[in-house]
Amino acid sequence: MLASGILGYSAETLESIAEGGAGAVVTKSVGLKPRKGYTNPTVVQVSCGLINAMGLPNPGIDEFAEEIREARTSLEVPLIVSVYGYSEEEYATVARKAVEAGADAVELNVSCPHVKETGSEIGQDLEILAKVVSKVKSTINRPVFVKLSPNVTSIADIAEVVVKAGADALTAINTVKAMAIDTETTIPILSNRVGGLSGQAIKPIALRCVYDIYERVKVPIIGCGGVTDWRDAVEFLLAGASAVQIGTAIATEGPGVFKAVSHGIEEYLKVKGFKSVKEIVGLSHRS
Ligand code: SIN
Repeated sequence: MLASGILGYSAETLESIAEGGAGAVVTKSVGLKPRKGYTNPTVVQVSCGLINAMGLPNPGIDEFAEEIREARTSLEVPLIVSVYGYSEEEYATVARKAVEAGADAVELNVSCPHVKETGSEIGQDLEILAKVVSKVKSTINRPVFVKLSPNVTSIADIAEVVVKAGADALTAINTVKAMAIDTETTIPILSNRVGGLSGQAIKPIALRCVYDIYERVKVPIIGCGGVTDWRDAVEFLLAGASAVQIGTAIATEGPGVFKAVSHGIEEYLKVKGFKSVKEIVGLSHRS
């Protein structure tokens, strides 16, 4: 799947990603009202990854609903809309509008590491988090995925709360809170100072999170964080993910990364004598 992130507001972009071989696409997060986001610089390249603090820029669900409708008519893969809000009602309203426009599922962003009063501020308050998930669940009749933050003491504890509240699947992980400083100007590079690290640098963290969550809950897990080639994807499957999302690697590998990863997984299964990808989901837990 395309991970929610830097790409994903126009129907055209989502289609080009699906043509690249993605099995599903997740939009960038959308809220109830339009939001400008932070001023530039909003992305910085660091060793083995990107740090971004875009600030959840989005046109608001009413305008974005047009793109969802357009994408839904041409896309041949499931369309998952990433949703954020400032209260349980807001999450539910945005999710309802997304589904009415044609979303096949929603992914709740309760993990953006740097926007006040939403994202990980909701995701770290277990009482509010449970209310958000159950409100959205009772409002829409489509699967509800919840994207979790790694910036917590125990991601498995949070996964448990979210699953008890009704989540159908979990996406692990969102970005890792990070920063970069310009040695010439001596100040932080991002306008927001702090952002979220994605890409290969966070793969071992994401993998450990998926492994921990798999030990604790029974819903499907979507691994996300640094998947760049088939071997990364296989690692996530062995840790317990049933699917993976790819985001940052599109910048380095292009949209063809989806086909390359799927092909590599198929070859791996063949060489190892597995009949289905299902046979390797969580296989690393057997010992
Ligand atoms: C952003 O828009 O700044 C990133 C969103 C996220 O990390 O969830």
